[in-house]
Amino acid sequence: MKFLELSNGARMPVVGFGTWQSTDEVLERALEAALQAGYRHIDTAYLYNNEEAIGRVLRRWLDAGRVRREDLFVVTKLPMIGYQKEKVEKYLRRSLEALQLSHVDLYLLHQAWGMQERGEDRLPMDETGELLLDHSTDHVSLWKGMEEQVEAGRARAIGLSNFNSRQIKRIVESARVQPACLQVEVYLYFQQRELVAFCKALDIAVCAYGPLGSPSMIQAFSSMGGDTDKIPRVDPLHDPTVLHIARKHSKTPAQVLLRHTVQRGIAVIPKSSDATRIRENLQVLDFLLDEDDVEKLDSLDRGSKYRLFSGNINKGMDRHPEYAYNEPY
Ligand SMILES: NC(=O)c1ccc[n+]([C@@H]2O[C@H](COP(=O)([O-])OP(=O)(O)OC[C@H]3O[C@@H](n4cnc5c(N)ncnc54)[C@H](OP(=O)(O)O)[C@@H]3O)[C@@H](O)[C@H]2O)c1
Repeated sequence: MKFLELSNGARMPVVGFGTWQSTDEVLERALEAALQAGYRHIDTAYLYNNEEAIGRVLRRWLDAGRVRREDLFVVTKLPMIGYQKEKVEKYLRRSLEALQLSHVDLYLLHQAWGMQERGEDRLPMDETGELLLDHSTDHVSLWKGMEEQVEAGRARAIGLSNFNSRQIKRIVESARVQPACLQVEVYLYFQQRELVAFCKALDIAVCAYGPLGSPSMIQAFSSMGGDTDKIPRVDPLHDPTVLHIARKHSKTPAQVLLRHTVQRGIAVIPKSSDATRIRENLQVLDFLLDEDDVEKLDSLDRGSKYRLFSGNINKGMDRHPEYAYNEPY
């Protein structure tokens, strides 16, 4: 395994295991296969409602001595319904209880925008399916609640997800504990060059979600009532350039996509429920894309109009004052 060194000195494995849209038995089987294959970086979120299943598998592995806690890198995220300084501890404690862990290695703010808290509803919406946003979200104050989790030992590092450069800068300027990582959408057609360079200059590691172009995201968001019409239809796994480079290296298209991102110094967290694909996605550290491959893959970047996770995937999110994607990067 290769690692990205975080600003707190911890090492984040460059290939991690994504778990969005995976629950219960399927996820338990997949995570077993992932740990067996050698994954040690696991990405989840309170919002995914799957931390308990992950906790059961991790507990089995830890109790049987098949893995040491210090070799795991577990990431989870504060839900948007917990976006007030005094609520951070409650939600992190809930995640830790479900994960059966005493700390996470990285705790992220899941989105830049906050929501109203309505009982146990993880993503509260009104009767028309519109998100119940909390327009008073204050990142600087919220971040202090995140810092307290590091000081209390519940999170080794804290970071951001889906924030733009202006929002990141504002936190960096006021932080006692700097954000160690930005988790953000990065894939072949949306390579996020400016944002990645911005983070690297601030010693913030970048982790790419949707690194395969998230083939099932449209289905997932339509089933949640989101407006998916404006999401670009993409299929990077069948892009002719990717297929050509895959044949050249005797690798699969997925391995070429993941390798391209990893070779840029960015971590990837592909999700799969299939044992063969789980193994395949980890085998990206044993080959090198040459200059010609990299040039061709770099040239396929089509910029922010190819952002997949944007606008109205959840109805109303773009009306929040901290909606992150109205600015260049
Ligand atoms: N911070 C955020 O807001 C955010 C947003 C989205 C995602 N994430 C995180 O990032 C992870 C990855 O993103 P994602 O799940 O959206 O997208 P992804 O990893 O790009 O794509 C996952 C999809 O690709 C398929 N797949 C996996 N390996 C494959 C392979 N080798 N060949 C062909 N198809 C393959 C999977 O199907 P099978 O399962 O059938 O293999 C699944 O449908 C998530 O699981 C989650 O942990 C974070």
